[in-house]
Amino acid sequence: MRLLFIGDVVGKPGRRGLAAAMPALRERHLPDLVVVNGENSAGGVGVTAETAVEIFEAGADVITLGNHTYRHREVYPYLDSEQRIVRPANHPSQNPGRGHTVVDAAGMRVAVVSLSGSLYLQVERLPFPVIDEVLETLDGRADAVIVDFHAELTSEKVVMGWHLDGRVAAVLGTHTHVPTADARVLPGGTAHITDVGMTGSRDGVIGVRWEQALQSFRTQIPVRFEPAEGNVWVMGAVVEIGDDGLSRSIEQVLVPADESSG
Ligand SMILES: [Fe+2]
Ligand SMILES: [Fe+2]
Repeated sequence: MRLLFIGDVVGKPGRRGLAAAMPALRERHLPDLVVVNGENSAGGVGVTAETAVEIFEAGADVITLGNHTYRHREVYPYLDSEQRIVRPANHPSQNPGRGHTVVDAAGMRVAVVSLSGSLYLQVERLPFPVIDEVLETLDGRADAVIVDFHAELTSEKVVMGWHLDGRVAAVLGTHTHVPTADARVLPGGTAHITDVGMTGSRDGVIGVRWEQALQSFRTQIPVRFEPAEGNVWVMGAVVEIGDDGLSRSIEQVLVPADESSG
């Protein structure tokens, strides 16, 4: 089973870039399952039903989220009703939405879990006991498990790989929007990367206009950020998963949206 996992789609430039790049990415990597992080898809912060539908129409099978999940209130009923979108499992359990979902891909039942780091991000519970409980719940119900670990710190993200090595197919980091160069399959068979990066403009700062980011840092006064527009790249990873639910390989994906579409 081949998984194409794509990092945080930032605003309209990210959504357009994803749609433009997907046909070539499909042709090149032949994915059986496409998982896309959509937490920045609405104006750069949060998600709406409209931006989620756009990401599904671009080719995603499952959308994962993160710390910006609840920014737009109008999305809450959609998070409850749409089975294919997941928010961090360690957010308060009564919050809208679900922490994991199970979909069929290449004859396998594949669970996709959204999980948040606990450092510099708000969570109800630590991610480690929560993912252990999720895996217990999934026992016998999924043939492979994919975890989007949405976290700030490299150390927390690397240690989650070791915590889950041999128990899940992949632990793929998101949230920083900056790709790391450490993609590998851990000894127990779990594919891991600290951060896959984002789908957005490289002419800005992690997807927003650099002038606004600079103003924010210089003045320390809140600035309303807008998505940067030019030079959109799609960043992610392709993971090959065996029938045993463990990974054979992980390959980083870093492509300009225009080039890959043409
Ligand atoms: Fe993000
Ligand atoms: Fe985030």
